[in-house]
Amino acid sequence: MAKDFSTMEDSNRSANADIHRVSDPARRLWLQGGLGALAAGALSPLLAGCATAPGAGGPLLGFQSIPTTDKDTMVVPEGYVAVAFAAWGEPVGVPGNMPAFRWDVGNSAADQTVQMGMHHDGIDYFPIAGSSTHGLLVMNHEYTDDGLLHADGMKTWSAEKVRKAQAAHGVSVIEVELKDGRWQMVRPSKYARRFTAFSPFAVSGPAAGHALMKTSADPEGRTVLGTLNNCASGMTPWGTYLSGEENWAFYFDGPDKPDADQARWGMRKTGFYRWPEHDARFDAKQHPNEFHRFGWVVEIDPFDPTSMPVKRTALGRAAHEGAWVAVAQDGRAVVYSGEDARFEYIYKFVSRDKIAPGGAKANATLLDHGTLYVARFDADGSGRWLPLLHGQGPLTAANGFADQGAVLIKSRQASDRLGGTKMDRPEWLAIDQKAKTVYCTLTNNSNRGVGNNPGIDAANPRANNVMGQIIQWTEDGDFDGTSFRWKHLVLAGDPANQRPEAKGNINGDIFACPDGLALDARGVLWIQTDKHASQMYKGEMARIGNNQMLACDRTTGEVRRFFTGPVNAEVTGVTLTPDGRTMFINIQHPGESASDRSDPANPSKFSNWPDYREGGRPRSATVIIRKKDGGVIGS
Ligand code: FEO
Ligand code: CA
Ligand code: CA
Repeated sequence: MAKDFSTMEDSNRSANADIHRVSDPARRLWLQGGLGALAAGALSPLLAGCATAPGAGGPLLGFQSIPTTDKDTMVVPEGYVAVAFAAWGEPVGVPGNMPAFRWDVGNSAADQTVQMGMHHDGIDYFPIAGSSTHGLLVMNHEYTDDGLLHADGMKTWSAEKVRKAQAAHGVSVIEVELKDGRWQMVRPSKYARRFTAFSPFAVSGPAAGHALMKTSADPEGRTVLGTLNNCASGMTPWGTYLSGEENWAFYFDGPDKPDADQARWGMRKTGFYRWPEHDARFDAKQHPNEFHRFGWVVEIDPFDPTSMPVKRTALGRAAHEGAWVAVAQDGRAVVYSGEDARFEYIYKFVSRDKIAPGGAKANATLLDHGTLYVARFDADGSGRWLPLLHGQGPLTAANGFADQGAVLIKSRQASDRLGGTKMDRPEWLAIDQKAKTVYCTLTNNSNRGVGNNPGIDAANPRANNVMGQIIQWTEDGDFDGTSFRWKHLVLAGDPANQRPEAKGNINGDIFACPDGLALDARGVLWIQTDKHASQMYKGEMARIGNNQMLACDRTTGEVRRFFTGPVNAEVTGVTLTPDGRTMFINIQHPGESASDRSDPANPSKFSNWPDYREGGRPRSATVIIRKKDGGVIGS
C-alpha cells in the first residue's frame, strides 16, 4: 500500500528509542563483496527446482537496463514481453457464477464476491503437479479506492456499497494455464475462490478464545469474519499461502479519545473507509474487541477449496506486511515478518515442532506452537532476538500482560517493553536459506529524526528518510538462533540530490521506496518500489520516475532496472514458475491520486492502464513477463 504521508500510521510513542542511538550510522553502509557463491537457496522448494534451469550458467543479470519513465505504460527490457491479465472485476471462475466486469461499475456486492478484488498485491504461483505451465495463482487485494469502485464514488453511501468494498478486499485463488503460447485463466475451475472482508476465518494459537478476542457475534472468540488490508504474501514449504493483515486500524472508528492500547495501534475517532456507518462491527465504541481480531498472519490452503483459512495468533499481532518461512536444520519452521508502519518492529517465530511430510494437512497446527521474538539491531553490527514470552522480564500481569494470549494481542506494547528496534517501515523479507541470510526492505520514514520523533540509529541511519533502505542479517548458527550480524545491502536514493540523506549509495540504477522483495532460485534479488503518488516526478524524486522493479546481483552489488510500471501505480508481488521462464507480478492502484481516492467524475485522470478504453478506468491487474525466446527470466 502506498501511504499518504500526512495520514499514515505512526503510533509508536514508547520510550525505547534512545537505547540504540547511533554513534556512527555511516559505518554500517553497505560495502558489499563477500556474500560468496550465489546461493541457490530460494525460500520455497517449489522454486528451488530452477537452480539448474537453463540460463543458470551465464551472467546473473543478462538483460539491458531500461530507463526511468513517467509514461502510462509498462516497459520491460529488449527481448521480453509483458501482458496484463486477471484485472480487478474479472470473474475468478467459480462454476456457475462468473459475472462479467461491468465498465459502468454496476456490478453488485454479490458479483464482487466472485470477481477479482481491487488493488492486487502479494502473489504466489502454486504449481499443479510441479508444472510450470499449469498452476494456481493466489494473490492479495489490499484495499479499495471507493472513488473508482462505485459510479458516483462516495457521494452517496449505503450498506450495499460497504458490502461491495468489503467484497473487493481479501484474497483470490485462480487457476492458470499456459496454452497455445498464452497464459490464461482456467474458468470455471474447482479451485477458484475468493476470501473477503466477511468470509469466516478460524482463529488458532494462544490468543484463540482469549477474553480480548470475544465479541457479541462470536462469544467463543474463535471465528472472525474477514481479512483486511492483505499486503504481502509468502508460500510455505508445506504448500500453503501466508498473507499479512497490514494497516487494518484505518477501518475502525474509535471513541472520541481512544485509550492507550487503542492509540498504540493507530485507532482514530474516524477511520478512512466509512464502513462503521453501515456495519457496526467496525465501530470500536460498540464492539471494542473486534479491533483485536485483525493484524494476524492468515494461512490458506489453496488446493483444498473447502478448507477454512486460519488466523495464526502465535505469530503475533502487527501491521503485518507479510510472512516468510525459513527451515532450521532440524526441520522446524522459522517465520519472519515485519510491520509496515513507522517506528515498528521486525519479528521471527520459531516453531516448536518440525515440518511434517504430508503437506498442508500434516502441518495444520505447526504455526500454533512456538516462540515469537522481536529484533534489536545494535550499533556494533550485532543483533538480538528478544522473546515475547509471558512472565519473562517485563511481560507480566502487573504490566498489562495477563497471559501469553495478551502478549501476542499486544505484541507492539510487549516489543516496546523489551526494547525492540523501531524500524523505518519494514515491508517484504527474502530469505537465503543456504547462507542463513535474510533481507528486509525498509521502505521509508519521513518522520525519522524530525521534531519529537525518534532519531536516527544504526539500522535506520537517515533523518527524514524518504528514500528507504534494504537491511540484511545473517543468523549466528542456525535460523533458530537468538543473535545475528547485520548490515545494509543498499540505501536507496539519487546521487544527484543535494541533501546527503537523499543520495543513497546505489551501485547501478536509481530507485526509491523499496517494498516488494524476492530471491529467485538463481540468486537474483528482485526489488520492487512503492513511491506514493504525492512523491512522483518532483523534488528529490524528480529523476526516479514511475514505480519499478530492479534486479540485484548480490555478489557485485549491482542493481539494474528491469521493469517500469504505469502512472501512479505500485509494482508489487513477484513469483516465478519452477522453470524460471514465467514471472508474475502485480500492478496496484494505477492512476491513484495523492489523496488515495479517485475522482469518480474523472476516473482515468492519471492512468487508464491496462485497458486504455475510451471512457474507461484504470484497474489493478497481474502482469505476465516472458522472454521472447522462452528463456529464464533475468538471464
Ligand atoms: Fe501494503 Fe506495506 O504496503
Ligand atoms: Ca508499500
Ligand atoms: Ca507493500
